[in-house]
Amino acid sequence: MVETVFARQWDRLMELSRLGAIPGDGVNRACLTELDAQARRLVIGWARDCGAEASVDAAGNLFLRRAGSDPDAAPVLTGSHLDSQPQGGRFDGAYGVVAGIEVLAALHDAGVVTRRSVEVVAWTNEEGGRFQPGCTGSMAWSGFRAANTWDDVRDGDGVRYGDALAALLDSEADLPRRALGGRAHAYIEAHIEQGPLLEAERLDVGVVTGIQGSRWFRVTVNGASAHAGTAPLSLRRDALQDAIRAISALNVAMADPDDVLRFTVGRMVVSPNSSNSVAGQVVFTIDLRHPDRDVLIARGDAVGGIIQGALLQCAAEIVETFHALPAAFDPAVVDCVERAASSCGLGHRRMPSGAFHDAQFVGSVAPAGMIFVPCRDGISHNPAEYSSAEQLGAGTRVLAAAVVELAEVG
Ligand code: GLV
Ligand code: MN
Ligand code: MN
Repeated sequence: MVETVFARQWDRLMELSRLGAIPGDGVNRACLTELDAQARRLVIGWARDCGAEASVDAAGNLFLRRAGSDPDAAPVLTGSHLDSQPQGGRFDGAYGVVAGIEVLAALHDAGVVTRRSVEVVAWTNEEGGRFQPGCTGSMAWSGFRAANTWDDVRDGDGVRYGDALAALLDSEADLPRRALGGRAHAYIEAHIEQGPLLEAERLDVGVVTGIQGSRWFRVTVNGASAHAGTAPLSLRRDALQDAIRAISALNVAMADPDDVLRFTVGRMVVSPNSSNSVAGQVVFTIDLRHPDRDVLIARGDAVGGIIQGALLQCAAEIVETFHALPAAFDPAVVDCVERAASSCGLGHRRMPSGAFHDAQFVGSVAPAGMIFVPCRDGISHNPAEYSSAEQLGAGTRVLAAAVVELAEVG
């Protein structure tokens, strides 16, 4: 029975991964695209098969609700996201949504009625790959930012976030619209670890205690495009050379002998991006993370000065696009996940998350926690991302046990 359920979960993950499949077993399913809409339709169908009802809010968050016996009781939420990185894997996000539906299916198949409703959520744009920043759906749901905050953010093709969201909502006009936000008794998100610890320690499950903080910046270095063959170096305003100076200075300033701080420049757009033209403009991103609030704030606040101090020829505009302080999960939910892992007889440990997740924002308005499962070599945000059907199934068993406790059965 258990094996059958795990096989169905695996098959569903593979079916989802065909929507946006890229070479090497990867997935490119950007948020608010046709592929994203198709993925949502798939999971809506699976949820309906086990008696759940779909609805969507103004931020595009998709809810799949299995009603409990007490309509006045705040629901238990679980879920994750269906969008992927541009060169992402099959499990980041999709696993948490599919695992949640497996919990609904298990309750349905067993004919169990919970007191609290159980809702599986697919949050909009967790990854921030197409539109920056990520977690826009969960930020809007939790009231951290207004839902229209990102309307004018554009993707690489110039499409506005607000327009892409409106198109998705139009395509789902058949679904009931629900109010943004609301009460939740608890939120639990199942996710692959995206790091190497659980595999190295041969453990089945991570009981996640919190998430480190993240700050994102978009840096625009403005110079002047010129002819590579004629413009004297002394007269140039070369945006690429100044971007390199700025990044080099940041690398020095962000060096951390303890190797705890994470500093990434992962995206750079050079204009006109021609080998015989001096770069007139460079836009690059900064992703800065640290578990200590004060360090995150101090290092993040230093970014602007370090960049300005490094420029020789150009001017730079620095905009902070994401600001998520470190979050500690609710002790009662963490204990509940730990109890669930023990009751399933699985090897587990408490651990923090280096990646951010929607639980970081949901946790600011509702008691939240997360369950991690191991992934091979700790690889994620990469087509090679892999967890076995058994590893994913173990996490889903823990999720089911925790949801059953929180939603109150019997
Ligand atoms: C989430 O995808 C993250 O970048 O941590
Ligand atoms: Mn994720
Ligand atoms: Mn991710």
